[in-house]
Amino acid sequence: MDYFQYRNEEAWCEEVPLEKIAAEVGTPTFVYSKSTLIRHLEAMKKAFSHWETLPCFAVKSNSNLEVLRIIFSHGFGADIVSIGELKRSLIAGADPRQIVFSGVGKQDFEIKMALEHDILSFNVESSFELRHIAQAAKKMGKVASVSLRVNPNIDAKTNPKIATGMYSSKFGIVETEVRQLVEEIKKSDSLCLVGVSCHIGSQITDLTPLREAARRMATLAKDLLSEGHELKHVDMGGGLGITYKDEVAPALDAYAQTLIEEIRDTGLRLLIEPGRVVVGNTGILLSRVIGVKQTAEKNFVVVDGAMNDLLRPSMYDSYHEILAVKNQERVMNCDIVGPICETGDYFGKDRNMPAMDEGDLLYIRACGAYGAVMASNYNSRPRAAEVLVEGGRFQIVRSRESYEQMWSAEL
Ligand SMILES: Cc1ncc(COP(=O)(O)O)c(C=O)c1O
Repeated sequence: MDYFQYRNEEAWCEEVPLEKIAAEVGTPTFVYSKSTLIRHLEAMKKAFSHWETLPCFAVKSNSNLEVLRIIFSHGFGADIVSIGELKRSLIAGADPRQIVFSGVGKQDFEIKMALEHDILSFNVESSFELRHIAQAAKKMGKVASVSLRVNPNIDAKTNPKIATGMYSSKFGIVETEVRQLVEEIKKSDSLCLVGVSCHIGSQITDLTPLREAARRMATLAKDLLSEGHELKHVDMGGGLGITYKDEVAPALDAYAQTLIEEIRDTGLRLLIEPGRVVVGNTGILLSRVIGVKQTAEKNFVVVDGAMNDLLRPSMYDSYHEILAVKNQERVMNCDIVGPICETGDYFGKDRNMPAMDEGDLLYIRACGAYGAVMASNYNSRPRAAEVLVEGGRFQIVRSRESYEQMWSAEL
């Protein structure tokens, strides 16, 4: 459920008409609903309330500082994949003791900074990374808390570009290598094994692979506990899907129950790293029609947003619902495309929607996750503004990039 809805055939976010935002801030603009975000945060906490759980928000999915501030103020930790994300998280009020550091290529300067902040855990993805963490910790006279991110070779049944839990992907440690790394940790004075982790993919709508992954992590954790390792947590990553079109996403309660059932025997704290399910439906991309073009085969609605603002359709062929800000009865079949010089610059194909004319507004739903964070300056287009709506008020939480800002680092 979200707080984008129609009133008298006109689209609103909470108590603000989208047209008002377009008039005052311009387009393209990402619009986030604070009430929707808080609703998701509370629902997540409630679903996991019967087991000690730390949800570490996947900062990669939406790293806007104001969005992060809201998320951390609701007790969430952070799952980061770079020092940029660490810095953002700290500015936004994250507790370093609730931060896990994921990613296959952590560099020495990043490891050092994470150690300086005493983060909760490094999710280690390779033997070379373990070696670098041990060396850095030793130099700094610290003991690094590490968790082994295991690749369980499980098919998450999702888009191959966002499946991460199979041996064909670059992520995680293959199960046969886990033992060797455990021995290295045991021998090191600078490393402490605090957990096991995995993340098998994103936009997962079938709980079966997640259950299987949790079962495997629980078995490994129990083995390690029985060998005397003082593990503190099992981290099951993120990945829960949302409805973009007609997918039936599992309910949060069913998701929580599945993970908790499997890891219960370990007695360990559960960590999760949700991104999309927290922020996906909290945001839309508001865009204005530049013009409508008819060819022998198609109608093209050319809008002022483009693949540099929202990459998902071009990159993953993903479906996003596209709606008119002002509904009307006359409908048209069209492709909704951006102005960028790429055939792949589109938001939707063969859509039946209210007929659009020059200057009309439309909006693209479910852009809160992997939307603004994946934006670029392709075609020398400044990044879109971001707006947060709270009840009847809204504030700009990222101002539209100026042309001067775009090229200042090149002068
Ligand atoms: C390690 C890790 N954790 C969490 C996430 C968040 O996934 P999602 O947004 O699907 O919940 C990702 C996404 O790529 C990831 O790589």
